[in-house]
Amino acid sequence: MQTIGDLRRLRDVIAQWRAAGQAVALVPTMGALHAGHVALIDAAKRPGTRVVASIFVNPRQFGPSEDLGRYPRREASDARMLTAAGCDLLWMPSVETMYPAGFATNVSVAGVSDGFDGAARPGHFDGVATVVTKLFNQVSPDLAYFGEKDFQQLAVIRRLVADLDLAVEIVGVPTQRDDDGLALSSRNIYLDEVQRASAVALPRALGIAARSIARGDAPDDALAEARETLIAAGFEIDYVALADAETLAPDPAPDRPRRLLAAARMGTTRLIDNVPIEQG
Ligand code: PAF
Repeated sequence: MQTIGDLRRLRDVIAQWRAAGQAVALVPTMGALHAGHVALIDAAKRPGTRVVASIFVNPRQFGPSEDLGRYPRREASDARMLTAAGCDLLWMPSVETMYPAGFATNVSVAGVSDGFDGAARPGHFDGVATVVTKLFNQVSPDLAYFGEKDFQQLAVIRRLVADLDLAVEIVGVPTQRDDDGLALSSRNIYLDEVQRASAVALPRALGIAARSIARGDAPDDALAEARETLIAAGFEIDYVALADAETLAPDPAPDRPRRLLAAARMGTTRLIDNVPIEQG
């Protein structure tokens, strides 16, 4: 695997691949890689396709009181993991390459960005949409892979690509989980042993609520029970909500694809998770 930090060099390599008739798949990341990212690389590996992973801890998607400074950075072990996973190229731009002096553009996706994490983290999805647009323009991938764990992010990126006629196919990859069900996340390392044991309440409460809603129980009751379970486990809740799986509008009709979404803090660590409501 080659690691590149220079945009002209990246474009040369990609042009050579294209001239050889190969497709390009992109897996955008902020590093601190885990098995969830390896699942994205695995999904991206196809005959005739070169896989590019990017690592860029994007300052524009962190709020002023968020954890940019302590976000885990493990470039050497990340590169080893990507090599072992069969990634062809690691694109690792500097902040100056991504946002040179004078950078003044903001990409904002209205509607789908507004609620949930968009409300809890103002500006977050503008930062994501801006950097993902840049990554698409830099790498010009045919396909790009994103985890369903960041479900709202996936919905924002699908909307962005549709609205701007970007020539890239977005592939959502199911959330990877630890054996007890906790969604894999670069932030799980912040949990101490007791918090880690309690955190399993998040996927469990969502699973119980999703099954109850799928059976036809009143969503408000199922959500209230999930909130009680999470509070009893020591979580401070940002939101536990049912949304349209495409637009993320609240209170979706039962014949629409629906998703249960949650964000909650265990100590200082903010965890998110989501599950589908299976259609009957
Ligand atoms: O999901 C992430 O790791 C980031 O939000 C992304 C998509 C790489 C943009 O910085």
